[in-house]
Amino acid sequence: MNILILGSGGREHALAWAIKQNPKCDRLIVAPGNAGIADLAECAQIDIMDGAAVVDFAAQNAIDFIIVGPEAPLAAGVADTCRAAGLSVFGPSAAAARLESSKSFTKAICDACDAPTAAYAHFTHPDDARDYIKTQGVPIVIKADGLAAGKGVVVAMTLQEALAAIDDMMGGQFGDAGAEVVVEEFMDGEEASFFVLCDGQTVLPIGTAQDHKRVGEGDTGPNTGGMGAYSPAPVMTDAVTQKALDQIVRPTMAAMAARGTPFTGVLFVGLMIKDGEPRLVEFNVRFGDPECQGLMMRLGGQVLDLLQACAEGRLADQRVHWADDHALTVVMAANGYPGNYAKGTAIHGLSDLPEDSFHMAFHAGTAESDGQIVANGGRVLGITARGASLAEAHARAYAMVDAIDWPEGFCRRDIGWRALP
Ligand code: AMP
Ligand code: GLY
Repeated sequence: MNILILGSGGREHALAWAIKQNPKCDRLIVAPGNAGIADLAECAQIDIMDGAAVVDFAAQNAIDFIIVGPEAPLAAGVADTCRAAGLSVFGPSAAAARLESSKSFTKAICDACDAPTAAYAHFTHPDDARDYIKTQGVPIVIKADGLAAGKGVVVAMTLQEALAAIDDMMGGQFGDAGAEVVVEEFMDGEEASFFVLCDGQTVLPIGTAQDHKRVGEGDTGPNTGGMGAYSPAPVMTDAVTQKALDQIVRPTMAAMAARGTPFTGVLFVGLMIKDGEPRLVEFNVRFGDPECQGLMMRLGGQVLDLLQACAEGRLADQRVHWADDHALTVVMAANGYPGNYAKGTAIHGLSDLPEDSFHMAFHAGTAESDGQIVANGGRVLGITARGASLAEAHARAYAMVDAIDWPEGFCRRDIGWRALP
C-alpha cells in the first residue's frame, strides 16, 4: 500500500514511525514532513491546504490511503475533496470538523445531548461579552470561537485579564476566528486527553494521555501547545472512561450522525475530572501533539489497520491490542517559546541517541541545513520513551534529553510529576 500523511509536526513523525512498522505499508510519503520524518519516509512539497493539489499528487503517486494530521486542512475540507475524488481518507469532513473549528457549535451540541461541560454564553458583540463577564466575576474562561492554533483560550484570574482578552480577540488578534467568543465557567480539576476512533457509528477507545500545557515547571507561566505528555493517564480510571463514553462521546457521535454530518476520524476528547466526574473541556478532531507520540509508541504498527478500518467503516470488528506499558514525551522547545524565539540554531547529539521501540526522538519543528539538524519552530523535538512503568519511561526519556546538546533550547524537567511516585 502507498500511504500519504499530511502534516509536518511531531504528531506526523510519530504516525509515520508507527505506520512504517506495518508490513502492509510499501511507500510512505509525508507532506511536507520535516528533517526527522525524512529519515523514514519520503517528504513531498505540496500545499496541504489545497485539496485539489492533494488529489493530483495522490493520483500521480498511486496513493491508496491518505491520513490528514492537523486540524486546518480538515476544517478547510481537504478530506471532503479527497473523498469526492474517490480516495480513501482518514479524517473528518469539514462539517464534522466543526467540533474543533467552532467552540459555539460544540457547546450547542453539548446542550442538545446534555453532555456535562462548563456553563457558557456565546457573543458576537464585545459590549455584551464585557457585561456578562462583569456579572459572572472571575475566574472565567474566554475562548475565540474559531481555530487559533491553540492560542485562542484565556483562563482569566482577574477581571482586567478577562476584559483584555475580549479586546484582543474581538479586536482582531486571531482575525475572523475571534469575531465571536465563548465565555465559560472556570472548571477546577485534573485534565486528561481521551482518544477515540469513530467511523460514524462505532466508537473505539485507543488510549489516554495527560499533557502539560503551561511552559513552566510546576504548571506555571503561559499556555503552550503542550510541553510533554504521558500515556496512560491514571486519572482515566475504568469508571471515568465509561462515564466519558456514555455521557459525552456516544451522545455527541449520535447527534453528529443525526444531523447528517457523521464524524469519522479520531476524536480527541479534552476532559476536566473532579471527584470522579468528567466534564468536556474541548474536542479536537485530530491526534494531540505531543500526546500522539506516546500513543504511537504504545500502539505500534497496528495503528495502520485501525485507521484504515475507521476510514472504511469497519471499526465494529476491530480490537486494540494493548501492552501493559507506559510512554512519556518531553518536549524540547526553542528558548523564548511560546513568545518570540530564534530559528536555525544547531542541535547536536541526535544521531547518537538510541532508536528502537523504547526510544525515539520525534521531530516537531526541525530542518536540515548543510547536513546539520537545526531548529525550525517553537516546539522542536518530542523526546519519547516507553517502559514497563512510568518511572522507567521517564528515566529513559530524560537520559535522551540529557544527551542532546542544544544550548538554545529548553524543556520542563517535571513531565509526569502528578503520576510519578
Ligand atoms: P482548549 O484549547 O479549549 O483546550 O483550552 C486550553 C486549555 O485551557 C485547556 O487545556 C485547559 O487547561 C484550559 N481551559 C479551557 N477551558 C477551561 C475551563 N472551562 N475551565 C478551566 N480551564 C479551562
Ligand atoms: N496537546 C494539545 C493539542 O494537541 O491540542
